[in-house]
Amino acid sequence: MAVQPVLRMGDPELNRVSEPVTRFGDAVLGALIRDMWETMAARGGLGIAAPQIGVPLRVVVFEAQASPRYPESPPVPRTVLVNPEIECLDAEMVDGWEGCLSVPGLRGVVPRYRRIRYSGFDADGRRFEREAEDFHARVVQHECDHLDGILYPQRMRDLSTLGFEEELSLAGRFGEIPCEV
Ligand code: NI
Repeated sequence: MAVQPVLRMGDPELNRVSEPVTRFGDAVLGALIRDMWETMAARGGLGIAAPQIGVPLRVVVFEAQASPRYPESPPVPRTVLVNPEIECLDAEMVDGWEGCLSVPGLRGVVPRYRRIRYSGFDADGRRFEREAEDFHARVVQHECDHLDGILYPQRMRDLSTLGFEEELSLAGRFGEIPCEV
């Protein structure tokens, strides 16, 4: 088990559509998931998708404690999500700042569905389903986009908000400092 290098935007591996997992509960999937948690923690992220460490499988992990960074957001449960599907529960989209471990140092405003239902499987192949809104829904949409080869700048409507975190922060352009996912 080890912390893995994180691929960065520009690497064509990040633009591929990943394959569904077909074998659950085995050592290969277990090792991948441990590497993902370790890499995410080492990089201070809130989530990571398998293709970000060069494995083109439909696996994401994420977790966010209640944090002074996101005072209005309830904690996001520690989750392994395999072969996910997302359904938006209404058409409302909200703008919010995002960062990504594969786009280090940058932040941008991204529109996301505010309320979603997501489903998928845990590492042992047990299906589950949840409803999520606001920050939780944003994290899930960001991570699952990685599985379809989409990075958050491709979802932005106003590229003038894309910038280096340091500069955006100095300019007071966001109050909360969003984490990378
Ligand atoms: Ni990301």
